[in-house]
Amino acid sequence: VRAVKVELGERSYEVLVGPGARRLLSSLVPPSATKAAVVTQEAVGVEVGTGVAQETFFIKEGEAAKSMATVEQLCRNFARFGLSRADVVIGVGGGVVTDVAGFAAAVYHRGVALVHVATTLLAQVDAAIGGKTGVNLPEGKNLVGAFWQPVGVICDTEVLAALPRREYRSGLGEMAKYAFLGVANLPELALEEAVAACVECKARLVAGDEREVAGLSGAKAGGRALLNYGHTLGHALETAGNYDLRHGEAVAIGLVFAAHLAHRLGRVGKERVAEHERVVAAYGLPSRVPQGAKSEDLLALMARDKKSTGTGLTFVLDGPAGLEVVRDVPEATVLATLEGLR
Ligand code: GLY
Repeated sequence: VRAVKVELGERSYEVLVGPGARRLLSSLVPPSATKAAVVTQEAVGVEVGTGVAQETFFIKEGEAAKSMATVEQLCRNFARFGLSRADVVIGVGGGVVTDVAGFAAAVYHRGVALVHVATTLLAQVDAAIGGKTGVNLPEGKNLVGAFWQPVGVICDTEVLAALPRREYRSGLGEMAKYAFLGVANLPELALEEAVAACVECKARLVAGDEREVAGLSGAKAGGRALLNYGHTLGHALETAGNYDLRHGEAVAIGLVFAAHLAHRLGRVGKERVAEHERVVAAYGLPSRVPQGAKSEDLLALMARDKKSTGTGLTFVLDGPAGLEVVRDVPEATVLATLEGLR
C-alpha cells in the first residue's frame, strides 16, 4: 500500500492506495473521534472497521440519491446516533456516496471530519479526492455543495474486482484522461500503479488550485479546470441522454473528440490524435459520437456547460504547451469535428 499526499497546508491528507488498503482505515480516524457514521449503499457491500463505535447509514442508489432530502435524513440520523463535532463520517462507495457523505460532513455541526473509502475505479481516481462535495436540485446537477476536504482517503484496489464490468469500464474512461494530463504509459501500468499515478496527478492539480479559480480567470496551465478534459462533450452526451453511455464512456468519446478538435484548430499533429485513439481503444472504450445524437443538440448543450464562463464555446484542449482552457472555439469547427466523428 502506498501513500499519496494531497498538499493543502493544514488541510493536507494522504490517499492510501493498494490491495487491502481498507484494513488501514482505523489509522485515518482522528484521535478525537469516539464515533463513526458510515455512509454507504446496500449494493456497495464493502465492510469497514473504524476502531471506534460505528453505525452504518444507507442511502439509495443512483443520481436520485444526490438530494438535499438525503442530506437532511443523514444529518438527522447522525444526530440520533449522537455524532459530535469530534467524531467522523466515513463515506464508503462511489461518487454518489462520496459527494453526499462529503456534503453531509461539511454541514453537520458546521463540519466534521470525513474519510472516504472509494470502492469504484471512478471514485478512486476522481470523485473521492479533491474536496468537492454536493447534491443535485431539480434545476440542475451539483448546484448545491461545499468544498470540504477529507482527512484521508482509501483506494483499496482489491474491492474493484467485484465491480460490475460496465462500472469498471466507466472508471477506465475517467482514468484515460490522465494519460493526457501527464501520466506516462498509463495503459501499460498494473492497476495499483495506475490508480496511484492518477491520484498523484489529481493531487497535484488540486494542490495548485484547490477551489478551481484558475479556470475562471483565464487559461492557466496546472489549474483544476484541466481535470475536465473530455468532459464538455462527455457531459453533453450524458445530458442528451438515451445513448446508454456511462459517465466514463461519455468522457472517452469526449477525449477523442477534443483531440480531433485540437487538430482541426492546428494545435496538435495527427500523431497526437492517434495517441488519444490508442489509449481509449486500449481500454475498450467507445470513441465515436452515437448515431442518434444530433450535432446541433450537442452544440447547444456544450454552450450551456457550467464550466464555460466566457461567451463562446470553451474546451480544455491539447496544444504545443500541453492542455489548456481554450475559449471562443468557432461553432463551425466544433460541428465539423462532431460530424467527422460518426
Ligand atoms: N470530489 C471530487 C473533487 O473534488 O474533484
